[in-house]
Amino acid sequence: MKAIVQDMYGDPDVLEFREVDRPEPGERQVLVRVHAAGVNIADWFIMTGTPYFLRLAGFGLRTPKRTTPGTDVAGVVEAVGGGVTRFKPGDEVFGEGKATFAEYACADEDDLVAKPAGVTFEEAAGLPLAGITALQGVRDAAKLTAGQRLLVNGSSGGVGHFAVQIAKSMGAEVTAVCGPNNVELVRELGADHVVDYSREDFTRTSERYDAILDHIMNHPFSVLLRLLTPTGALMPNSGNGGKWLGGGRHRLKAEVIRPFTRRRMAPFLGKTTRADLEELARLAESGQLRTVVGHTYPLSDTARAIQHVAGGHARGKVVVTS
Ligand SMILES: NC(=O)c1ccc[n+]([C@@H]2O[C@H](COP(=O)([O-])OP(=O)(O)OC[C@H]3O[C@@H](n4cnc5c(N)ncnc54)[C@H](OP(=O)(O)O)[C@@H]3O)[C@@H](O)[C@H]2O)c1
Repeated sequence: MKAIVQDMYGDPDVLEFREVDRPEPGERQVLVRVHAAGVNIADWFIMTGTPYFLRLAGFGLRTPKRTTPGTDVAGVVEAVGGGVTRFKPGDEVFGEGKATFAEYACADEDDLVAKPAGVTFEEAAGLPLAGITALQGVRDAAKLTAGQRLLVNGSSGGVGHFAVQIAKSMGAEVTAVCGPNNVELVRELGADHVVDYSREDFTRTSERYDAILDHIMNHPFSVLLRLLTPTGALMPNSGNGGKWLGGGRHRLKAEVIRPFTRRRMAPFLGKTTRADLEELARLAESGQLRTVVGHTYPLSDTARAIQHVAGGHARGKVVVTS
């Protein structure tokens, strides 16, 4: 089968599109014929080996330990391991797999759920990592409740456009910060107020928010904290914090500031669970959550797809198809 392979860290040209052996599912694993794989900024981090702390965290010091990238997946079950009880060949699924920039990929049974009818493979492939992050950010980190006010900075990208919709499905009032080309989009997705960052600075306001989910972190913590209600929560959620620490830099800062503020510092890391994949499927099936597929690339062009996301201006999700 064809797959994307990377033998070293580096620029997009380290990604080769080549022939490899088809993987065999383990006892509790499912082999999926990949129809679509979502692209995340994490794929850029793993491709380049930056921020460097990732290398220390087990991704491989000089060369990547895992040479076949990609995690988000949607496709059709081709075969199952002996211990698999929830799926059979022919089932349409989505979730988190291993080495999903490929024609076939394995996934643990518990990291997959049924693809809702009416949702395309491309839409389903965009859901896992960004959808889980948005869901856990809004529901668990912000602990948002109906009627509360959420501001999302970076509201038109993968995580942001899901966060706007999930917060609306919970009955929150949402202010979405985005660029001029996406104002209409985030309004259509349900945002109550939209701030175009090219015309207005969202921090120059007397509004107060119960939570801020910030994917950009282009304002100091002190300014963001002033925009919160006295018990409001700040989720600094940008992975862009320099070559060494990346998003870890914002997490560290949050820990340093935490003792000095009554506002809640709530950095978080999304973690895939079957229950939350099922919740995303339920929201998508009911029409409360829609994946905006901003761009698709063929599998052979995965390098360009990852570069597109790394440019920082993806609209909704970028997906590769095979
Ligand atoms: N905590 C976790 O577990 C976790 C998991 C996944 C991702 N993340 C982090 O979440 C962040 C967002 O990820 P993503 O996948 O949503 O990124 P993305 O798809 O690349 O989206 C970025 C969005 O930000 C917008 N943007 C760029 N500059 C802006 C500005 N100055 N003000 C407001 N919006 C701006 C862009 O829209 P325009 O084209 O209109 O500029 C684009 O739509 C990343 O930094 C990532 O590292 C964290």
